[in-house]
Amino acid sequence: MLKLEDVNAYYGESHILRNVSFTIEPGQVVCLMGRNGVGKTTTLKTLTGLLPVRSGKIIFNGKDITNEKTDRRAQEGLAYVPQGREIIPHLTVRENLLLGYWNRPKLSSDVSEKEAFDEVFKLFPKLTQILNRPGGVLSGGEQQQLAIGRAILSSPKLLLLDEPTEGIQPSIVDHIEDVIIGFKASRRFAILLVEQGLHFAARLAEKYVIMAKGAVMASGKSDELSAEMVKLHLTV
Ligand SMILES: Nc1ncnc2c1ncn2[C@@H]1O[C@H](COP(=O)(O)OP(=O)(O)O)[C@@H](O)[C@H]1O
Ligand SMILES: [Mg+2]
Repeated sequence: MLKLEDVNAYYGESHILRNVSFTIEPGQVVCLMGRNGVGKTTTLKTLTGLLPVRSGKIIFNGKDITNEKTDRRAQEGLAYVPQGREIIPHLTVRENLLLGYWNRPKLSSDVSEKEAFDEVFKLFPKLTQILNRPGGVLSGGEQQQLAIGRAILSSPKLLLLDEPTEGIQPSIVDHIEDVIIGFKASRRFAILLVEQGLHFAARLAEKYVIMAKGAVMASGKSDELSAEMVKLHLTV
């Protein structure tokens, strides 16, 4: 359902992504791994259209989206939870959630706004208590729950999660991990997860893509690529 073909991307003249290729099947959970600075976030930015691709192709649901605008990609089912959340600080929690709902494809409008919101509130009950608060005053954990809730409201086909538990208090980390495990069980959408924690990655991923210096250095199904091998690749 997603295919990257020899994607090259630059920040200015710095060549960051080098012939990045990998695929994701419908409903699959893929973990994108690698040390800090190897290009994981940059890879997600090329997928969402926030960073242009210099050469190569991105195919999503059989369609070439390489040059499509960010909002079009969102409407076609690509949802993004960026590293550091990036929720809109002056909008309330409810307004931030609405932004996700408005990206829902027309076809799924059989679900009412109330039903769609209720699903998110079931996952993250805390949000119901802070609906009228501006996003900017929330704690890191609350912001992350809001960012994931907003992504889910768009009814994605592929959810991009960039280090969703980074810098969040441990009690909320467990809750967020449980929610992601629930997403996997539901198989409603595929997940591309950037994750530093090997333990959580090993528990969740059906496939690994391991990057080094802007390139994919190994990829494969979890049973072909044992946790030990992943560890080895990450430490070289
Ligand atoms: N906005 C930017 N402008 C210039 N260089 C950047 C920018 N963002 C990231 N980089 C550089 O691109 C490389 C990859 O960064 P990134 O994709 O954020 O890595 P990761 O997410 O794997 O930690 C790093 O060398 C980083 O310094
Ligand atoms: Mg990153």
